[in-house]
Amino acid sequence: MTQEMSRARRLVAEAGRVVVLSGAGISAESGVPTFRGEGGLWRSYRPEELATPEAFARDPRLVWEWYAWRRELVASCIPNAGHLALARFALAGTPTAIVTQNVDGLHTRAAEEAAGTGDPSPALPIEVHGAIHRDKCSGCDARTPALPEVDVSSPQALPRCAECEGMLRPDVVWFGEALESEVVAHAFRVAHEADLCLVVGTSAVVHPAASVPLATLQNGGTLVEVNLERTPLTGQAEVTLLGPAGELLPELLAG
Ligand code: OAD
Repeated sequence: MTQEMSRARRLVAEAGRVVVLSGAGISAESGVPTFRGEGGLWRSYRPEELATPEAFARDPRLVWEWYAWRRELVASCIPNAGHLALARFALAGTPTAIVTQNVDGLHTRAAEEAAGTGDPSPALPIEVHGAIHRDKCSGCDARTPALPEVDVSSPQALPRCAECEGMLRPDVVWFGEALESEVVAHAFRVAHEADLCLVVGTSAVVHPAASVPLATLQNGGTLVEVNLERTPLTGQAEVTLLGPAGELLPELLAG
């Protein structure tokens, strides 16, 4: 075991309350593409054409086509050892809150798998960027589980709200949109209460999510980071573990 891993394990063991901030990197080993860096979605696609309210107003069919593809991709993926290690840790005793920027639902699936017939709720994530497997009405904001299939053959075929006939859209936060204020407040509250923040697989460049760990620091807590590479938060981390989350988290969080 490396010295950094021993130090990080000690910090975890001593923590009274933990918050986790996860990003796309934690799902990379499940086969979900990240956004930035090698193979990242924003290398091949332009966010302003796919993940903005303006893009949806201009060409809802194209936006739906892209999200239908991502939904299918995510549905074919399963939680990896990193998601499961976090879920088991959150269920095991130390009060832990998992804040995620991911919309892929893999933390939820890991929580359900780790809890078995028990209660998964201590390991369920606070999803600050929404959830790809949910729809939202762009008229009345009503949320519904994602339709099993979206017909993207023409703009007329796209799904509409059963209540108000407004256009349905995936319930994810797009560039230029505000996050749900209650969800963000919840994330910052748990970060403020924690004495250890574990930052996993995020480039830490998209705010306000990237500021969540700062709430723990402001309260006198410490950061432990797990990433393949250094990030803007690395300078403020007590320990940075460089490597894949699916390998490092089980070692870090094993009792
Ligand atoms: P990014 O794609 O920006 O960053 C992924 C991070 O994960 C990078 O720092 C990688 O080094 C790291 N990484 C990759 N594979 C890893 C692995 N196996 N183990 C550990 N780390 C790994 O993803 P996010 O930071 O999540 O927003 O991006 C933030 C937001 O930007 C997303 O939520 C999305 C995007 O635009 C919205 O859709 C609103």
